[in-house]
Amino acid sequence: MYRLECIQCGAQYGPDEVIYTCGRCGGLLDVVYDYSRVRLSRKGLKGPLSVWKYRALLPVRREPVTLKEGGTPVYHIRAIGEAIGMKDAHVKHEGMNPTGSFKDRGMTVGVTRALELGMKSVACASTGNTSASLAAYGARAGVPVIVLLPAGKVALGKVAQAMMHGAKVLSVRGNFDDALRLVREMCLENGIYLLNSINPYRLEGQKTIGFEIADHFGWEVPDRIILPVGNAGNITAIYKGLHELKTLGIVDRIPMMTGIQAEGSAPIAKAIRSGAEGIVPEAHPETVATAIRIGDPVNAVKALRAIRGSGGTADTVTDAEILAAQKLLAVKEGIGVEPASAASVAGLIKLRAAGVIGRDERVVCVTTGHLLKDPETVVRTCDQPLEVDATKEAIRRAMGW
Ligand code: F0G
Repeated sequence: MYRLECIQCGAQYGPDEVIYTCGRCGGLLDVVYDYSRVRLSRKGLKGPLSVWKYRALLPVRREPVTLKEGGTPVYHIRAIGEAIGMKDAHVKHEGMNPTGSFKDRGMTVGVTRALELGMKSVACASTGNTSASLAAYGARAGVPVIVLLPAGKVALGKVAQAMMHGAKVLSVRGNFDDALRLVREMCLENGIYLLNSINPYRLEGQKTIGFEIADHFGWEVPDRIILPVGNAGNITAIYKGLHELKTLGIVDRIPMMTGIQAEGSAPIAKAIRSGAEGIVPEAHPETVATAIRIGDPVNAVKALRAIRGSGGTADTVTDAEILAAQKLLAVKEGIGVEPASAASVAGLIKLRAAGVIGRDERVVCVTTGHLLKDPETVVRTCDQPLEVDATKEAIRRAMGW
């Protein structure tokens, strides 16, 4: 069994309360289990990776709403590793989930919880991937979905998914932070279930990224996990999950959690750099990596604890560095990711050059979303196809043969 607990004042709430933040102090909530009663061991965890393999540490009783999420591949990135003087650099490609991003891990749990709580509709604000995922899982569960997107700033593939899966799509004239503020109020006032990462159940699903990384390496956790940070839910979730595995004696340490933000929207990286206790929100976040174009991350308090508690760090990368890393992954490794995801690898390259990351470290970069999510950026940054006549001669000329 489990309860919700405020990370600030320790207030506790039962699993059947529909609540997103502490009723007493407004702090963020965590799902806390009675770890002495959790039946989970290395021996019992044989077999293929998937979110529901770790059900003993997931807050769900009924049959889950699932599209078979998780079990994403880990790729050894030899060519990039060699170029930066590392032998043990890897990518976990979360773009290989059912809707093309890691959000599916959170939604399989979050939408299942929505049904358990008897909620009749669900909603989120999103830079794109959360909306695509919620639209698909809502469809699977037969629950109406409303999504609020920052107008003109969501990658095409993501909007297409939300539309096709039948969500009500509202384009808000404002940024993600505005949309999130609105959807939070809308959900509370209208009894709609909120499935942004302020919802602690969503993070429970996402912590399975950490479980799968540890499982993949035979429970020898890597030295470092690097991931792009936007609303700061994912870095928080992975840290929490690995902490739980350590509590249960399944792993013996926690990797250095390393968050990478785009230079134009980097409140967490700036707080880490300055040593400040909290963040200063960025009023006008900007980056080509629209997925992480977020100025006021709701999970900031948890994320700063995760980074500091694991001896990790956070840094920024420029849009140019993000696009260069996206290209490098695609061309040198055959791995297609969207720009935000490439921030993790851009961060690896930057921190390795600065000597922050050692040559012998085992590092896993989480690439959070698939290349096909954002075709417009690809078209802007790659050579265009050459149109030729349908003759051998034209092909010969085009090839310079
Ligand atoms: N990478 C991708 C591809 C994302 O879509 C997101 C977040 C992140 C990284 C950052 O994760 O918020 O947990 O720190 N996308 C959200 C969305 C905000 O609405 O799809 P985070």
